[in-house]
Amino acid sequence: MNKKLLTLLLAAGMAVIFVATGLYAGTDIPDTITMDYNKYKKRKKKPPKTKFIEFAHKKHNVEYKISCGDCHHDKDNKPLDLKEGDNVQKCAECHTKMAKPKKKKGEKKKKKDILVLENAMHGNCIDCHKEVNKKAGDPKGKKGPAPATCAKCHIKNKK
Ligand code: HEC
Ligand code: HEC
Ligand code: HEC
Ligand code: HEC
Repeated sequence: MNKKLLTLLLAAGMAVIFVATGLYAGTDIPDTITMDYNKYKKRKKKPPKTKFIEFAHKKHNVEYKISCGDCHHDKDNKPLDLKEGDNVQKCAECHTKMAKPKKKKGEKKKKKDILVLENAMHGNCIDCHKEVNKKAGDPKGKKGPAPATCAKCHIKNKK
């Protein structure tokens, strides 16, 4: 077989593989995500007092230039180097506790349990937003371009 034909066949073979893997692509990368974890008791019992947060997923990556691994990590908390088509686990698959433990009477404030989903979300979103705001000039990190106080993310529903 001549060399030219061989490279051609190889290229054709590669193309087939690419198309085939395309069909088995992992999780789609969402542009925006409604942060709606209905397992929280509060949401179950009565209609939410606040709107669900609209998280601009793609914008965070593309416009704010935050890499996938800044938010997505593996079971050992190591950043994941993701690309399109990779399977991505939801935060709640590992951060499985749906409620903060109740404080008992007289008990000192507990160290935050990061396996509580709410703490993981706040830890991810708010910690970075505070850093962003600090860099923008607010020493406490609360005011600035990135929402870092409760009502900025948990926007009240009007009755
Ligand atoms: C600023 C943080 C952040 C960045 C940056 C980010 N993600 Fe996400 N991503 C999230 C959050 C939060 C979710 C919602 C997960 C959930 O529902 O538990 C999510 C969800 C996803 C999902 C859907 C998972 C599912 O099963 O619904 C995919 C796929 C994904 N991200 C891939 C990526 C890829 C690839 C990149 C980089 C190009 C990226 N993400 C960058 C925070 C981020
Ligand atoms: C495959 C399991 C797994 C998934 C999926 C996962 N985490 Fe984690 N995460 C962990 C583990 C394990 C730790 C470390 C817990 C510890 O230190 O005890 C951790 C730690 C964290 C921390 C603390 C980080 C630090 O270094 O202090 C935050 C914040 C966090 N996760 C947010 C998220 C968010 C947001 C998502 C979804 C975008 C997510 N996690 C998805 C397993 C996971
Ligand atoms: C690693 C840093 C980082 C993380 C993590 C992060 N953000 Fe942001 N976020 C930013 C930056 C930067 C801005 C834009 C500030 C500006 O406008 O210059 C922003 C802006 C926002 C805004 C307002 C503007 C917009 O684009 O919608 C919302 C709402 C928001 N983030 C939600 C979230 C939520 C919810 C999470 C957690 C799931 C999160 N962010 C995690 C860096 C981050
Ligand atoms: C950067 C945005 C952001 C800020 C600021 C923020 N949160 Fe959240 N919060 C989230 C996200 C994302 C979730 C997880 C999604 C969900 O459950 O709706 C969450 C979940 C929660 C939950 C559990 C879900 C529920 O509806 O019961 C409570 C309670 C909560 N936050 C209270 C607060 C309080 C109190 C503050 C201020 C100290 C605050 N949050 C600030 C983003 C934010």
